[in-house]
Amino acid sequence: MNHTQYHDSVETLIRYAHHYYVLDDPLVSDEEYDRLCHEVLAYEQAHPEALRADSPTQRVGAPVLEGFEKAEHLSRMWSLEDLFDHEELLRWIERTKKLSDVTHFYCEPKYDGASLNLIYEHGALKSAITRGDGSIGEEVTQNARTIRSIPLRIAYEGLIEIRGEVVIFKEEFEAINRERLSRGESLFANPRNAAAGSLRQLDSAITASRNLVFLPYGVGYNTLEGRTLSERMEWIYALGFKRPPMRRVCECAEEIDAFYREMQDARDTFAMMLDGMVIKVDAINAQEELGYTVKNPRWAAAYKFPAVEKMTRLLDIVLQVGRSGVVTPVAVVEPTAIEGVIVERATLHNFDEIERKDIRIGDCVIMLRSGDVIPKIVKVLTSERSGNERIMPRPTHCPVCGSELLDEGALIKCQNLTCKARVVNAIIYFASKPCLNIDGLGEKIVQSLYDAGLIAGVEDLFGLTLEQLLRLEGFKEKKSRNLLEAIEAAKGCECWRFINALGIEHIGEVASKMLCRHFGVKLEEATKESILALEGFGVEMAESVAEFWRVNSDHVMRLRAILSPQEPPRQSEAAQNPFKGKTVVLTGSMSRPRDAIKAELEALGAKVSGSVSKKSDFVIYGEEAGSKLDRALELGVETLSEAQMQMMLEVHA
Ligand code: IVH
Repeated sequence: MNHTQYHDSVETLIRYAHHYYVLDDPLVSDEEYDRLCHEVLAYEQAHPEALRADSPTQRVGAPVLEGFEKAEHLSRMWSLEDLFDHEELLRWIERTKKLSDVTHFYCEPKYDGASLNLIYEHGALKSAITRGDGSIGEEVTQNARTIRSIPLRIAYEGLIEIRGEVVIFKEEFEAINRERLSRGESLFANPRNAAAGSLRQLDSAITASRNLVFLPYGVGYNTLEGRTLSERMEWIYALGFKRPPMRRVCECAEEIDAFYREMQDARDTFAMMLDGMVIKVDAINAQEELGYTVKNPRWAAAYKFPAVEKMTRLLDIVLQVGRSGVVTPVAVVEPTAIEGVIVERATLHNFDEIERKDIRIGDCVIMLRSGDVIPKIVKVLTSERSGNERIMPRPTHCPVCGSELLDEGALIKCQNLTCKARVVNAIIYFASKPCLNIDGLGEKIVQSLYDAGLIAGVEDLFGLTLEQLLRLEGFKEKKSRNLLEAIEAAKGCECWRFINALGIEHIGEVASKMLCRHFGVKLEEATKESILALEGFGVEMAESVAEFWRVNSDHVMRLRAILSPQEPPRQSEAAQNPFKGKTVVLTGSMSRPRDAIKAELEALGAKVSGSVSKKSDFVIYGEEAGSKLDRALELGVETLSEAQMQMMLEVHA
């Protein structure tokens, strides 16, 4: 690759990413994108002086911060006046019309997330600041850079603030909470908290892993000329920002109300959570004429959707046993309509949570449902108690197989590997989307295959025959053939799907991808020590993999033989060099991106770790290195300056 090709490739990557993350319309496969990304990264490593700040390789890998700096917005960030019903809407419209010559209203969703102010100058993203008190917020630029729907460059030279909401999609939110639950960590209450919490991470790698999305809703400081907000927004989308799922210019209360109802009906189909519709005066000169109250603009308002909290009665608590044996309490509630959906079950998370909230059977409770998110019990109305409420004791025996449970506090587990609930759920998980993605093999079918005695574990799926299926109720020729074909199609799956499908505790999709990148399909090479050396893996995860292999190696080998997962390109064996097989820690700011140095060391066979221990071989320090360097000196670990490392690299190049 030469210099011109490098620039062309960066442009191509930016275009691919824009189509993928902003337009939801991928141009190429993930593999193709990764391949080009690797080429670009290799060029950047060889020519650090040519590195472009807007290269997609620069979206991750910033140093972990000690805290956030405060930063001032160029112009104030306002909040919105809330409107709760049709009458309030009419009064608001009347007032705007009285104060100015208002004819058109721009309406778009009110996203439920965290607001963010992006400052661009000379076409580059200069800083990203959270709302804070409206005047001063926190600078979270390096986290914002990891959000793929925030362009690092825009085709506009002037100084401008682009404002919007950082959200987490509902599906992503549920996946994060599922993973947190399996690790015994506290759960995010809703996507808004998850988005806000993810935006305020000191380690931008965590922010990057959360798949946040930025949705623009306006500008702050600017010297733009357009006459209307709707034109301005079109211009913003054309710069490379994401469009809202619905927007419309309305002329009167009836039109606004009709659009509001449409949006409310459609809200469940949107990937993000909405909590209302925002109505803004479309003409910029009318906005200026209307001006602001102490808190809010007079030219905008939030038309809120009805509350999603409902009161109900807790009729019973039933127990579910998951594939890992964890026993989860589920609330059975008096059927209650929330947002047009009849809710009969709600999550209670775990028994510690039930005790903390003092939830009893028969209690009057407040239940919360947000979008597609599973409803949950948030509060008990203790004043409504009659005295007949029953405390649910912690279970001691598995409700499915009857074996004794292991009570670990937050988690209570069935230890019986052949417990029906565990087996069936493990097979359902094995076939699910982020695993082998076997079409048509859902909960019901797995149940009937198990009940008919055709499968007792995942391996049996691959021995199913047409004759066996045809004997089952509801299985006609076509359905049976389709199922067998879908099972057959799982063979030759991607390596990470195979690892994820094993259902190793604490190892989700992201961790599976990392394991696969480092060890390929050879899980036996993933020793506790070698996993610990990987970025983002803690002791619990490393032990879980090692223990899983110890207990299940035969099963994994058999499954591997059946599935023949694709072997990903492994890093080629490095020639002898001073870093080969060594554990290295990088600290302080370096003259080149940390990720580039890391990749180079890894290519030489080094393990780059995030923390210093007695087992570290080298601590390589840049400018303003802090506690990690101190710790290295304390432990007597060999330290190298960046320049010393560079010399050693060159000698062995
Ligand atoms: S406009 C003057 N538009 O809601 C403009 N805000 O209560 C002020 N929000 O802090 C904001 N979606 O974080 C606007 N389409 C939208 C919005 C939106 C969500 C948030 C925003 C703001 C809060 C105001």
